[in-house]
Amino acid sequence: SFHLAPNPEIQKPKTPLLVVVLDGWGEAEDDEYNAISRANTPCMDSLKKGKPDHWMLLKAHGTAVGLPSDDDMGNSEVGHNALGSGQVVDQGARLVDRALETGELFELDGWKHIAPAATEGTLHLIGLLSDGGVHSRYDQLKLLFDGAAERGVNRIRVHTLTDGRDCEDGTSIKLMETLQKDLQALEKQGVDARVASGGGRMCTTMDRYESDWNVVKRGYYAHVLGEADNKFTDPVEALKVLKKPKNGKPVSDQWVPAFVITDDKDQPVGSIQDGDAVVIFNFRADRVVELSKALEYKDFDKFDRKRWPAIKVAGMMQYDGELKLPKDYLVPPPKISHTTGEYLAKNGVSTFACSESQKIGHVTFFWNGNRAAPFDKKLETFHEVPSDQNIPFNEKPAMQSQKITQLAIDALKSGKYNQVRINFPNPDMVGHTGDLDATISACTTVDACVKRLLKTVEEVKGTYLVTADHGNAEDMVQRDKKTKKALMADGKPRMLTSHTLNPVPVAVGGPGLPKSVHFRTDLKEPGLANVGATIVNLLGFESPSNLEPSLLA
Ligand code: 3PG
Ligand code: CO
Repeated sequence: SFHLAPNPEIQKPKTPLLVVVLDGWGEAEDDEYNAISRANTPCMDSLKKGKPDHWMLLKAHGTAVGLPSDDDMGNSEVGHNALGSGQVVDQGARLVDRALETGELFELDGWKHIAPAATEGTLHLIGLLSDGGVHSRYDQLKLLFDGAAERGVNRIRVHTLTDGRDCEDGTSIKLMETLQKDLQALEKQGVDARVASGGGRMCTTMDRYESDWNVVKRGYYAHVLGEADNKFTDPVEALKVLKKPKNGKPVSDQWVPAFVITDDKDQPVGSIQDGDAVVIFNFRADRVVELSKALEYKDFDKFDRKRWPAIKVAGMMQYDGELKLPKDYLVPPPKISHTTGEYLAKNGVSTFACSESQKIGHVTFFWNGNRAAPFDKKLETFHEVPSDQNIPFNEKPAMQSQKITQLAIDALKSGKYNQVRINFPNPDMVGHTGDLDATISACTTVDACVKRLLKTVEEVKGTYLVTADHGNAEDMVQRDKKTKKALMADGKPRMLTSHTLNPVPVAVGGPGLPKSVHFRTDLKEPGLANVGATIVNLLGFESPSNLEPSLLA
């Protein structure tokens, strides 16, 4: 069922196809807060001149990528899922919404697995405190603890990771106040419900792709052991103090140091004990895989856990289907199969996929439908360039882009690969810091990298497809919904650290592209999922019927 028919228009190319994902590179009008239009981007500008035959815009948010509504901004998980699978699948956010709305969540095996421990011991909820809808959502957390309380759970502890990355920086305090109020409402019903620990997501718990296990260690110590340098009796107070300006700048929600809430005897109010139940309430995988391992694996050597309590664990979803991690989960995750990666591997296409640690799983794991291992080890090479640790990305906006570029050039020239697929994290990772100048620099750097790559594509007579997964860098300021004017506070713009709802560009070309091949203009709402079939075509095959239609005429 994986056989692909040869494409009548595009013969299986003898030269490589380069696929570039510019992470967080959206399209918006020129504006002082558009880091891309303000950057020096001659290469991407020249691709745009290929409109409409070889350049177009794609929808990268909302229902086009399987999110609950068109108010949901795009993100890398759903973006790379759509690009790589060539399909629109109902994503975690939507599946959890449904399971909570119907109450089905509390009927499924995952809940049954933790329910006895949750009712006899304490139910711990660990995850991102956010409205962003990228990794988690507060309304889901509330439905979860309210539903648990209704079902006889009478001791709840929430371990909160503050955001400022998928929602406006500084809103953590407000959300914590809301959480406190909602937990106090439970207290009135006789449920002992409190916040127990927390920390900013970038330094506590939510590392990804094993970039820095110390992040997870800090979180484990705070959540499980009740140990952190910072102790407070009140979580709102904790955030107010820990966010106080350092070097003249308030500490961002993302970087709040780990803290523990203690009682009047200086004891943690909610360390995790034998017999307790733990739910990780993020629906998105990448940033809770490591925590899941630390909680669940008997054999574990990434840091000294000191104490590993006997607990029942469930994820909001299963975060890694091959590793079966965590073993138990509340809502079955989206099933993504028959992806372009699997088709191509089963039709003999060799691939080199590369990025730096921060995004390597995006062009491998997410690209291949949340599957970490290659489909065929002989045909697929995954290359990770280690990311910098402990340097905020705005302090080194070039990140590892030069190394990634060189590796891709070598791979293109090696003659070993039919496809070279890379991700440049810069516009996104630097965009998330809210630092406009650094993001402009990131975009200039990445454009120069793409230029070097396209020159190599010329040399090897190959083909390219350049696109992005969602918007971010093209709009760096919060705006009034109606007037679209930048919002100000104390005479300064309120920077936007999150992704956007904007479309992203896609361009194809190169000497290997037959002259007759160009984009079609008849698709009603072309989106990221149309890229999958396009890549299959560019590699010389007809696209299979389960994929969204190709962008090529
Ligand atoms: C993150 O995890 O860094 C952000 O929440 C989302 O960014 P990404 O979707 O671009 O990875
Ligand atoms: Co991002």
